Amino acid sequence: MSQQAPDQAHADKLVIHNLVPADLQSSFAEDLRAGLSASPKHLFPKYFYDELGSQLFEAICLLPEYYLTRAENEILTSYADEIVSEVSAEKVSLLEMGSGSALKTRLIIEALLKRQEQLLYTPVDISATALEQSSRVLLQSYPNLRINAYASDYYDGIRALQEQPRGRTLALFLGSNIGNFDHEEAHTFLHALRGVLKKDDALLLGVDLRKDAKILEDAYDDALGVTAAFNLNLLTRINREFEADFNLRAFRHQVFYNEELGRVEVYIVSKQTQTVSIPRLEMEIRFAENERIHTENSYKYDQTGLSQLASATGYTRTRTWLDEREQFSSNLFIATGEG
Ligand code: AVJ
Repeated sequence: MSQQAPDQAHADKLVIHNLVPADLQSSFAEDLRAGLSASPKHLFPKYFYDELGSQLFEAICLLPEYYLTRAENEILTSYADEIVSEVSAEKVSLLEMGSGSALKTRLIIEALLKRQEQLLYTPVDISATALEQSSRVLLQSYPNLRINAYASDYYDGIRALQEQPRGRTLALFLGSNIGNFDHEEAHTFLHALRGVLKKDDALLLGVDLRKDAKILEDAYDDALGVTAAFNLNLLTRINREFEADFNLRAFRHQVFYNEELGRVEVYIVSKQTQTVSIPRLEMEIRFAENERIHTENSYKYDQTGLSQLASATGYTRTRTWLDEREQFSSNLFIATGEG
């Protein structure tokens, strides 16, 4: 058996469009400037995913407390065939927003390749390295796969997808990625995604369900401290990319389940009064003792909320599959009307 160098292998089957450098570095600077001078201080979760951040998230998915990935895997393992059979067409093309390592996607890819010869997979992810790695692994596993990938944030990705002609499409938005959006943002996002779909195209939406606060808080504050490292790595990234001098030992990870709003809130807390300088932004940032930077929300849903979300954004929720412990849901939204 002959092997090609990794960079040449699959050259005819893989295109990665890198839309990141154009906008991410300057928007990171602007978002940092705004978020760290605001009160309360805040940063956006998309900045977690530098190379180490993406790897730390993969490690989170293996933690005993982080049930989400296992639950969704269980659902897709049991029901992938049923799920893809709900998408009515001889040939389906697969789209994924926030594909990450694309491990769960394999289950859907395999189900589709039982029903059709060839498959076009279009992943969109903020991390170019995650896209490169996952694409090569997928192409090695599935000779009949072609990949057209976009390294970009969600909205630039959606804009680029508008120009890509596709047949019947199954879009994936897995892993409770939608949880990072507040309710208004979730509407905006689903509606924007609806814009690149045609009537009867499908969206498989992985959504975490509301549950006991202790289970949720443990899932985001694991005993091993991996989620803490994932969160604090944001400061490491700012140190590296903006020559800042955050002392990581002077900050800690904090998590709180806001039952009323149905969301896990994640913070970085300053352990002491301190000033941090960020030379590349020409900023000095003062922290009071226990002052926090809000870094992430992870929204949890219930069944009625999901049907409303679908109908408000141009879809009907036709099916929902749950894991055995009913912790997580996979929802099939079918695009209605004209869009
Ligand atoms: C990638 C947004 C789905 O909210 O569960 C995990 C991110 N943050 N642990 C989530 C995350 C801390 C994750 N999502």
